[in-house]
Amino acid sequence: MTQSNSPEPPFAAIVVAAGKGTRSGQTLPKQFAPWRGKPVLRHSIDALRKAGCAHIVIVAPAGMHQMARDAAGVTKGLSVIDGGATRQQSVAAGLEALADIGFERVLIHDAARPDVPGEVIRRLLSALEIRAGAIPVLPVVDSIVVADGELMAADAKRDTLRRVQTPQAFRYAEILAAHRTWPGEPVAGDDAQVLRAAGGEVAMVDGDERLKKLTFAEDFVSQTAPALPVRVGM
Ligand code: CTP
Ligand code: MG
Repeated sequence: MTQSNSPEPPFAAIVVAAGKGTRSGQTLPKQFAPWRGKPVLRHSIDALRKAGCAHIVIVAPAGMHQMARDAAGVTKGLSVIDGGATRQQSVAAGLEALADIGFERVLIHDAARPDVPGEVIRRLLSALEIRAGAIPVLPVVDSIVVADGELMAADAKRDTLRRVQTPQAFRYAEILAAHRTWPGEPVAGDDAQVLRAAGGEVAMVDGDERLKKLTFAEDFVSQTAPALPVRVGM
């Protein structure tokens, strides 16, 4: 395995950035808010390009394409398209936009996760050599319970649970087909769920705490650089 910046074959990425960021309390949708000196969105675009991504589709809110282009800071190998009402619809639009370009592999990433370690991308792409999909996961360290209103209803088996992050990596033809044949409302939490529903196998690789999704206003308060990751055994 070489350490080349351009793994073979080339891969594309869809960065979903069409949400409103309601919970973040920012003036702009959170993907365009400043984060450690540049827009949130630019961080993941830079990381994807550094990892050798050949083409990036940014799925943006209608009427905010120029803002997305400015935030991305690049013009080559970039398309910007309209998103949908749900994340799943935004991803589906991104997949359709790649239909004529012919990449065999695609990463699907939340713009709201600015810090994308290159080693996670490498782990995901390498897992795709044997599976149709690959996701970064972290162990659950707290106990997990099922809630019934304000009461605890039941405990849950933490050992079998994982926290799931993005980017997620897929063989393009399989994730496109899975989205096209999704049977229910388009409200899946992520694309691994969509692939699984279509019968595809999803490998799990080590995630990284730095991939945290900026969600709430307090996530934007401390913008110091992340600590080095601590690898937690599963
Ligand atoms: N997203 C999208 N299209 C949607 C909804 C979400 O592209 N219709 C994207 C967001 O821009 C984000 C990612 O999906 O990068 C994860 O969604 P989330 O963290 O929930 O972001 P928002 O929906 O923007 O935030 P909120 O739920 O607080 O409004
Ligand atoms: Mg949301």
